[in-house]
Amino acid sequence: MMRKNIQLDEQGRLKHLLTLEGLKRELLVEILDTAESFTSVTGQAVKKVPLLRGKTLVNLFFEASTRTLTTFELAAKRLSADVLKINVSTSATSKGESLLDMLRNLEAMHCDMFIVRHGESGAAHFIASHVAPHISVINAGDGRHAHPTQALLDMFTIRRHKGEFGPLTVAIVGDIMHSRVARSQIHALTTLGVDEVRVVGPKTLIPKAVETLGVHVYHDMEYGLEDADVVIMLRLQKERMQGALLPSEHEYYQRYGLTMDKLAAAKTDAIVMHPGPINRGVEIQSEVADSAQSVILEQVSNGVAVRMAVMSMVLGRPAEGGAA
Ligand code: CP
Repeated sequence: MMRKNIQLDEQGRLKHLLTLEGLKRELLVEILDTAESFTSVTGQAVKKVPLLRGKTLVNLFFEASTRTLTTFELAAKRLSADVLKINVSTSATSKGESLLDMLRNLEAMHCDMFIVRHGESGAAHFIASHVAPHISVINAGDGRHAHPTQALLDMFTIRRHKGEFGPLTVAIVGDIMHSRVARSQIHALTTLGVDEVRVVGPKTLIPKAVETLGVHVYHDMEYGLEDADVVIMLRLQKERMQGALLPSEHEYYQRYGLTMDKLAAAKTDAIVMHPGPINRGVEIQSEVADSAQSVILEQVSNGVAVRMAVMSMVLGRPAEGGAA
């Protein structure tokens, strides 16, 4: 028997967004197209549409965030939702209240959506499995597992610059082992039909059997970046590393830091991406991060439209067993 994807309702519409793994190409394209329609809202004098008026969204962040937390809040406000932020370090969970009891209390306040970031892989899935049926959960990054909205905003940025996904060569460089972003990007890129997805990094930072996800592995930057259309840099996620996986940051930068010299192996019109936060002089040279090829800040801007799309699709579904 096929395992039920709890992200989808009986009609195959998005109820939660926990991972991109297993989602169909058509659904990913629908999210990107919906995001495209929201980009005009940002240019309006009144940057608001009433799509989620009356809905209450809760940002439940158990781990630090700048970009994701802020753009989810901005996206919710642009959709006219009420949005709350629970500061977990000062909430009652720090006084021993269990996560489930905290959820029950938020449910009692008639919230409609939880946007969850957590250090443990599987946390968003756990919460989605335990909330009341009318509540939707969006994963804003869980451990090293998944960061679906980041990957979607990355796909949106790639599509805006490159048009079709099919003919592209995309290189993801750095700490693939500990990266939830890389995992979600790989699922998105392969589902959207990208011709060649490469992962580039030292052996200690590439997961075993990663090729089974449909990627090619490179340990040499020059070969890994050769003729790439898109270069995605990742930071070293030291907070998730156990033991010494690298000789030194200096040596890492020498071999895997993206400099203008190394970027010359990619196509001349290649774009450089990074989910942030960037570490200048560790995985990326300042000159590259600030160059005309860098679309790093554009990724952040696109995050608002993509998160508006996901939230409106999830909460815009007709109520189960009833009208919209
Ligand atoms: N890309 C990303 O997840 O950044 P934040 O940790 O600042 O949210």
